[in-house]
Amino acid sequence: MAEAKTYRNFIDGEWIESSSGSVYGHHSPADRGDLVGTFQDSQTADVEAAVEAAARAFRRWRLVPAPKRAEYLFRMAEILVRRKEEYAREMAREMGKPLREARGDVQEAIDVCYYIAGEGRRLCGYTTPSELPNKACYTTRMPVGVCALITPWNFPMAIPSWKLIPALVCGNTVVIKPATDAPLSAYHLVKIGQEVGLPGGVINYVTGGGEPVGGPLVRHAKTALVSFTGSSETGRRVSVACAESFKRVSLEMGGKNALIVMDDARLDLAVDGALWGAFATAGQRCTATSRIIVHKKVHDEFVHRLVERAAALKVGDPLDESIDVGPLVSDAQLKRVMDYVQIGRDEGAEPRLGGVRLTKAEYGRGWFFPPTIFTSVDPKMRIAREEIFGPVVCVIPADGLEDALSIANDSLYGLSSSIYTQDVNRAFVAARDLETGITYVNSSTIGAETHLPFGGTRRTGNGHREGAAVTALEIFTEWKTVYIDYSGRLQKAQIDNN
Ligand code: UN1
Repeated sequence: MAEAKTYRNFIDGEWIESSSGSVYGHHSPADRGDLVGTFQDSQTADVEAAVEAAARAFRRWRLVPAPKRAEYLFRMAEILVRRKEEYAREMAREMGKPLREARGDVQEAIDVCYYIAGEGRRLCGYTTPSELPNKACYTTRMPVGVCALITPWNFPMAIPSWKLIPALVCGNTVVIKPATDAPLSAYHLVKIGQEVGLPGGVINYVTGGGEPVGGPLVRHAKTALVSFTGSSETGRRVSVACAESFKRVSLEMGGKNALIVMDDARLDLAVDGALWGAFATAGQRCTATSRIIVHKKVHDEFVHRLVERAAALKVGDPLDESIDVGPLVSDAQLKRVMDYVQIGRDEGAEPRLGGVRLTKAEYGRGWFFPPTIFTSVDPKMRIAREEIFGPVVCVIPADGLEDALSIANDSLYGLSSSIYTQDVNRAFVAARDLETGITYVNSSTIGAETHLPFGGTRRTGNGHREGAAVTALEIFTEWKTVYIDYSGRLQKAQIDNN
């Protein structure tokens, strides 16, 4: 194993140590003896330096023509393509998602770079006739300023790219604070930014804890916008802090995503989708399938097939190509999942599969938990309502479409949903009535593409959509309306009306 490196913060175009000199080691969740790297344990002074650098760089970066800004992003994509395998391996080691999923994560950043770089030649506003003669009106997008990007560990390159790349093409500068548990993949993205020659201060990268780094970053008077992806508890704190100064804030948070299986569904397809949705990334996705709502007529057959297939999933080292499920990201996450399984038991539910931490020697060095299926779950139980963020899924029986939709919609969250049916009428009703930001028909609750809006209703978000569709531009720009009067006299809108 290569010797672990020490990674520094990136501030004003320089790689520098935290002002206090303090660092922390990050270990692989698959093997706590495997030191992935040492990262800066930053404090307020580091945030201060990063924000000041970003504010200085903003003065010039906003004036670089957008197609030119986009050229840097195209070049970033090209480097990512070349290093996809290397970065995927480091990601699997860093946070435990299976290698093939890690490749997808890097691919998502590539897709975002190519797609959003194209926006450099669009960033469209509109023109419209004036109500007055000899007067022109048009709209244009202005960058917002210094953006604070706070990113999670479950998509450690894809989600930073959702935020970073649109922010840059729009002319903003950024300070990125990656998750404490997955700072390396974001480091790679930042390093590529440096390699393609982005001016110093345009991207700044500061690692460390939520309170010491995220706190001052969110509160700083010179951060104009906060884009946060993470838990609803933290998101609420971020939102409250931003409210103080009316700071623009985009929040992407929890989910309790339902997959509905109707009695006319192709059960083989529904089982494939349920397995992928519930257990990919060990269930640590905002879009993970955490409730499966099954029509009573096919319930027993579906559960039988689901349990059989889930039992055959191979849990293990994420770098082993043959495994299906890797470890949880940390001991804290493992504890949370185990606590929820206990909560389920206390509520009277018993796992049909899994439910007990894996302790065989091969699992002893990591945070492994097996695919776990609770059946006959009452929708009122906490395990059916709260986000668990682990390989735990609840099966809930339903009487028919109406009942299934009402169970699915009875949630504090509203990110993703799915229905398996061969009936086009049921599909359209579900697509209309499921109260989530994303709905899939005959496909799992996961699998969002980068050029379509990603986000959810209720406690999942605060109305924004990123990921990195054209809607991301709404987050990272302010509208400017320009009126040009070439009549040579004072014309009064609304007043000169006859
Ligand atoms: C997440 O669920 O946390 O839709 C993000 C997908 C990925 C992104 C998921 N493109 O599966």
